[in-house]
Amino acid sequence: MTLIPGSNSLSHAVAADRAHVWHHLSQHKPYETVDPRVFVEGKGLRLWDAKGKEYLDAVSGGVWTVNVGYGRESIANAVRDQLVKLNYYAGAAGTVPGALFAEKLIEKMPGLSRVYYSNSGSEANEKVYKMVRQIAHRHHGGKKWKILYRERDYHGTTIGTLATSGQHQRADQYGPFPDGFVMVPHCLEYRKQWDVENYGERAADAIEDVILREGPDSVGCLVLEPVTAGGGVILPPLGYWERVQEICRKYDILLHLDEVVCGLGRTGTWFGYQNYGIQPDFVTMAKGVASGYAAISCTVTTERVFEMFKDAPEDSMSFFRDISTFGGCTAGPVAALENMRIIEDEGLLANTINMGEHCLAKLQALQEKHAVIGDVRGKGLFLGAELVADRATKEPLEEKRVQAVVAHCLSQGVIIGATNRSLQGLNNTLCLSPALIASRDDIDRITNAIDRALTNVIG
Ligand SMILES: Cc1ncc(COP(=O)(O)O)c(C=O)c1O
Repeated sequence: MTLIPGSNSLSHAVAADRAHVWHHLSQHKPYETVDPRVFVEGKGLRLWDAKGKEYLDAVSGGVWTVNVGYGRESIANAVRDQLVKLNYYAGAAGTVPGALFAEKLIEKMPGLSRVYYSNSGSEANEKVYKMVRQIAHRHHGGKKWKILYRERDYHGTTIGTLATSGQHQRADQYGPFPDGFVMVPHCLEYRKQWDVENYGERAADAIEDVILREGPDSVGCLVLEPVTAGGGVILPPLGYWERVQEICRKYDILLHLDEVVCGLGRTGTWFGYQNYGIQPDFVTMAKGVASGYAAISCTVTTERVFEMFKDAPEDSMSFFRDISTFGGCTAGPVAALENMRIIEDEGLLANTINMGEHCLAKLQALQEKHAVIGDVRGKGLFLGAELVADRATKEPLEEKRVQAVVAHCLSQGVIIGATNRSLQGLNNTLCLSPALIASRDDIDRITNAIDRALTNVIG
């Protein structure tokens, strides 16, 4: 490992962090007595912190992001070459990487044709909300302005996207929120809300109930995560997606799939929705698009939606009057092009499916052994294990004990995640999302660490 020369510079960085950095999603009181963890270097799935400790990262940079792993020189080189050629021009004009990445992306997304660039998942989602509102004004006489979102889903951190947060702990104390965002029930079968056989259809019908209550004329869009991430790794039950698509078509409601986590291979297909044979009107993506080597997000839509913004060139208000300054950075699309090449050339979709199956089997074996694991679920390298205090009642394990399991893994040098600060009383799912290059050995190390942690913490 090549650290920044001189350990003094590292201890200085830790002190500077402690003195001046305000960390995301963190209560800072503990940092008055303990140093924050400062990472220094990464290679593949391995990370090193400022104290020289090595970790195996089972969460791709903490939040499902570094899909192709750390230390990719080819991405760094591509970005470097592009930056010295042209680093930026505002998105009102084009750039070569912007054009080429859009073309490559659209090849993977049959039925979609237009890419709008910005630089975070939240922003990509807000673009859809603005498009839907403008379509309502221009094409529906002000109707169809409401946006439905689902309990337990998350779509971002801005006030607009928090208005669609199905995770109450993320939104609480940041209101009041704008009008016109309405929640539909979650679809997690493990925590059943209806006692029926065809659970997937019933959970989708619950969306129709909300549409009928609100008035189909008022609803313009439904936003869903293909597989819910921070809300507990929730796979939609069988029959859910078919029915959702049917309902959207029946009431002329645009279907927006938030692929910020699933996008670019996480579930073993380019996009999560491609596992379910559905045809969305909007797809948003961010994290894995350039694996964190540069900031980029995309809002992708159909020609039908795009046409609605160019049908009246004589009207000065008719086009999408939106801008994202850093959506014009070329580092994002050039990194994304190389990221996609790596996924293709290294066969990472196939590896994701194979290693995902192996990891799921390992977690299922752990479930046999540890009564605290109430449910195991996942698709590709996107997996969760829900911890319960009592299997029969499904009472969630207390959050601090879940966090103790995560901390025990960390002490073994394995970074796993858990749903946190999302849903009061239900932050009880361990989350795994290693880079798509993970090997069998990596998976075994991760699940062995969980095994030891559960034995030590729970008994
Ligand atoms: C499903 C989903 N959508 C949107 C976002 C927001 O993305 P960003 O943090 O890039 O704004 C996240 C972030 O975790 C997410 O998980």
